[in-house]
Amino acid sequence: MSTTTDEIRLHELKAFDETKAGVKGLVDQGILKIPTLFHNPPHKFSKATNSTKKTHTIPVIDFTNIGKDPNARQEIISKVREASETWGFFQVINHGIPLNLLEDMKDGVIRFHEQDSEVKKEMYSRDLTKPLVFTSNFDLYSPAPLNWGDTFAWDMASNTTKPEDFPVVCRDIIPEYGRHVMKLGMELLELVSEALGLDPNHLKDMDCYKGNMLLCHYYPPCPEPELTMGTAGHCDATFLTVLLQDHIGGLQIHHQDKWIDVPPIPEALVVNIGDVMQLITNDRFKSAEHRVLANNIAPRVSVACFFRADLRSQEKLYGPIKELLSEDNPPRYRETSFADFVAYFNAKGLDGTSALQHFKL
Ligand code: OGA
Ligand code: NI
Repeated sequence: MSTTTDEIRLHELKAFDETKAGVKGLVDQGILKIPTLFHNPPHKFSKATNSTKKTHTIPVIDFTNIGKDPNARQEIISKVREASETWGFFQVINHGIPLNLLEDMKDGVIRFHEQDSEVKKEMYSRDLTKPLVFTSNFDLYSPAPLNWGDTFAWDMASNTTKPEDFPVVCRDIIPEYGRHVMKLGMELLELVSEALGLDPNHLKDMDCYKGNMLLCHYYPPCPEPELTMGTAGHCDATFLTVLLQDHIGGLQIHHQDKWIDVPPIPEALVVNIGDVMQLITNDRFKSAEHRVLANNIAPRVSVACFFRADLRSQEKLYGPIKELLSEDNPPRYRETSFADFVAYFNAKGLDGTSALQHFKL
């Protein structure tokens, strides 16, 4: 009996995969009921007790004068420390990326996903080691319910990508945004290093950016948003993530057993601590579970820059940073290569459990 159910599910997954049109392809067909593959069990929603308490607001950190005034910089470092220890999330304003570039980037992502589906089909793949991939549900064949969204992924670390490899509708903007977000991320790695009491170059020297990836998400409007998720609750397999979100909303973080909105702020970028940062800081900085709700109003776009180590290298091992350990604070995790961490994370899929458990000593 269960084999039959599994076979039906596999058949439906394959059929969806083979359309190469993603979730937007379903919406374009004009469906009014979403396929059961996307249904989440009701308990996923019963946890959705949104908090409206004022104290439950993700910190907003202003980077004005960060490079000019040493006092301002120290204050910013304290705020980064506090936010990383308590929330694992913060928003940054006055980060130095021009606001018109943020707008142009969101427009570019919309143009990518709303272009002729034939162009997207040619880029459709489940192989995220390719430099440029259009995909939907990276964990499609895992047992978890599907998510209501599509992604255009750029492996920023592959130096074989040429400008002309990008689809013409976003050729200029994506690499340009990539350069800016990379620069901001390098600054964040310095601030996070200092927030840990380490040399500013510590995390950069650990190559926490050599396998970066840019994920351009598109969450089409969903006819039955109460049955599914844009992205199910998960932590990121990163050191840190820098996220650009549009004005639609739906991003939430799991904090003290409540789901709390990350309100869209047009000029802000959202930063979150990833699992591998939690691992190397020996649980000092928190990788917070987060998710994206589906909506039936308008498409939502977001762009996540994943700060990761080189996945092609098995040599470098990541474990709790020696300088942070002491007799009272012994290592809680074993060392792992970044590639092994991501392989475990991806095989598990977004099933709501933490990949960190697997690496605990
Ligand atoms: C992610 C993610 C959130 C969003 O890419 O890991 O959590 O708002 N994205 O799309
Ligand atoms: Ni995420």
